[in-house]
Amino acid sequence: MSGQQPSAMTSQDARVPVRAIAVASGKGGVGKTNVVANLALALRRRGRRVIVIDADLGLANLDTLLGVNPRATLRHVLHGACPMRDVLVEGPGGIQLVPAASGFEDLTQLTDAQRLLLLEQVDSLEGSFDILLLDTGAGISPNVLFFATAAHETLVVVTPEPTALTDAYALVKVLSTRYAEQRFGVLVNMARGEFEAKRTFTHLSRVAERFLHVSLRYAGWLPFDPEVPEAVRRQRAVLDLAPGAPVSRAFDALAERMLADPHTEVPKGGLQFFFRRLLSEARA
Ligand SMILES: Nc1ncnc2c1ncn2[C@@H]1O[C@H](COP(=O)(O)OP(=O)(O)OP(=O)(O)O)[C@@H](O)[C@H]1O
Ligand SMILES: [Mg+2]
Repeated sequence: MSGQQPSAMTSQDARVPVRAIAVASGKGGVGKTNVVANLALALRRRGRRVIVIDADLGLANLDTLLGVNPRATLRHVLHGACPMRDVLVEGPGGIQLVPAASGFEDLTQLTDAQRLLLLEQVDSLEGSFDILLLDTGAGISPNVLFFATAAHETLVVVTPEPTALTDAYALVKVLSTRYAEQRFGVLVNMARGEFEAKRTFTHLSRVAERFLHVSLRYAGWLPFDPEVPEAVRRQRAVLDLAPGAPVSRAFDALAERMLADPHTEVPKGGLQFFFRRLLSEARA
């Protein structure tokens, strides 16, 4: 537990607005946690101050993946034992991690009071980060929907498997029809090549367009790469362990595109937007 702020680098561009991105999927095991860890590191290396929140409450494992040993977690925060700042741990490259606990059922459905507390606690960190990445759990549970609706954008991770596509569609459907969400990026993971990735995206975006009238943004793709499970076994980010691996180069390209792509610019209001969404969701 450090509560330290990133020191090695500061934001290269002070005008970059705060962005909150929820990484979600529908189907489990498609690579969300690895995406959050490596994208965070890639963005950090580009000078952005990044906080990642393990929002997979109950089955949290971002800390394990990054090889950090938190002494306190979001569970302590949500039970009022300490402020969020006190549970921040520093991960590779200076990423700040808000770890969560695993094996507790009590947070699998946040109460309104806990949502508001979370809101206040994220608020208290304002000014200390540029990008907030939320690693959500699989499925369409109330927690996942809450985090996705609170963020500026939901990055839907999908693989070329038909089951992953079906579940991604289900997630987009619930978020767009019940919560009027319109901002979705789609990241195709574990693809055998760009052709397969684009075909997967096209498939999903066509049905979303046709049946939900939602236009999805193609965020990019990551190859299936055996270096990923190897890095997981070693509890290292693959970007750290194997920077030249195809998947690591793809993470670098993804981060570059994210920072350059005007489509991912957040609406005016920055973090306030995030809070407003959290608040209205909590009151709903
Ligand atoms: N690009 C990839 N190439 C090869 N294996 C991958 C890739 N991305 C993820 N994996 C593997 O897939 C498995 C699941 O990854 P991860 O834990 O990140 O998924 P998740 O979506 O967060 O899962 P959950 O829904 O359980 O939270 C891991 O064993 C990881 O090594
Ligand atoms: Mg995960």
